[in-house]
Amino acid sequence: MLNWDQFNEPDEVTAPPAPVVKAAQPAASTPVEVTPDVNRFEPTGSAAYENALKALEGLDVAPGLEELEMGAQRVLVDDKRMINCRADLNQLVPFKYDWAWTKYLDGCANHWMPQEVNMTADIALWRANDGLSPEERIVIKRSLGFFSTADSLVANNLVLSIYRLITNPECRQYLLRQAFEEAIHTHAYQYCIESLGMDEGEIFNMYREIPSVAKKAAWALKYTQAIGNPAFQTGTVENDQELLKNLIAFYCVMEGLFFYCGFTQILSMGRRNKMTGVAEQFQYILRDESMHVNFGIDVINQIKNENPQLWTPAFQAEITQMMMEGLALEIEYARDTMPRGILGMNAAMMEEYLKFITNRRLIQIGLSEQFSGAENPFPWMSEIMDLRKEKNFFETRVTEYQVGGALSWD
Ligand SMILES: [Fe+2]
Ligand SMILES: [Fe+2]
Repeated sequence: MLNWDQFNEPDEVTAPPAPVVKAAQPAASTPVEVTPDVNRFEPTGSAAYENALKALEGLDVAPGLEELEMGAQRVLVDDKRMINCRADLNQLVPFKYDWAWTKYLDGCANHWMPQEVNMTADIALWRANDGLSPEERIVIKRSLGFFSTADSLVANNLVLSIYRLITNPECRQYLLRQAFEEAIHTHAYQYCIESLGMDEGEIFNMYREIPSVAKKAAWALKYTQAIGNPAFQTGTVENDQELLKNLIAFYCVMEGLFFYCGFTQILSMGRRNKMTGVAEQFQYILRDESMHVNFGIDVINQIKNENPQLWTPAFQAEITQMMMEGLALEIEYARDTMPRGILGMNAAMMEEYLKFITNRRLIQIGLSEQFSGAENPFPWMSEIMDLRKEKNFFETRVTEYQVGGALSWD
């Protein structure tokens, strides 16, 4: 193994000096000038290397997607904007949106991996003939069926549609973190499916074969497609609204509503000491998701603040209808997965819970609630998501995993 003394020993052979590259001056299109150097090591016999040197002679140091300019003024906080920003997007600091950077740090502090969760008890329960009721098996399969592809849809939307249109580096930093978390979630669902020995084809195709699952996926996918065309650009009221619709579809409906019936069902199972490994995976995912939703709502509100012309009464009505469509699809999913009472809940209770959440989402983005009096029939869900407990929860996580212990479901 190398040590620092060896590392600091002088090299016997002096490396040839690097080619001198003059820093290009103001003009954006100034090509790099490579100054001939008599001491330069000249390789012979490599046509590819010679071609590479010729190509570098024409390198434009100020190309790029974001219209960089050599010698341009340094980025100022006031230059930064959520969308349609003209400032250099590769300079993370100075921060303008501290909330985005804080969420990035929080996300990193909450890192976890699916293999850390002990699945032994789940495997035994799933294989046992009398361990679970047929209704409970349907709930587990539907949840894994919906989520195993839903998180791919979210990740695709992030990297193929949203990322390039959000013109702020600290928000992009969080989007990259979120994209990796979505990969971990897909990994977690795959890990559950594999551990339980499920029919992978059946589970991964539910989003195309089971109507109540397929409708949710199709509803979200059309918003990815709306702005996913590489030629799509923001900068007009209509297109900026299209981006807002995508953000609301994914953060408020997909992650903020479509996940809640399945999460509640699986976490309720965990509280009853059934499928505790799957439930533990879902609990970690839910904590990530609640942060994704909070981030998305901050982004949506920041875009609204910076672009008040987008938030017209007609557009607000359109957004409210989108939220109602999402709610209707989630209620249909609840009825499909719970034709009868199960796990201390039923479709009617879930319907009230979903209306309670929808009210909350509407208020969070500055719209009026639609279901006055809707209450939360599952207060323990709020406990699990309580962000004030987030820190304690993750501080104790490693110890709990090392002893293979389960999380507390109180
Ligand atoms: Fe996710
Ligand atoms: Fe997410």
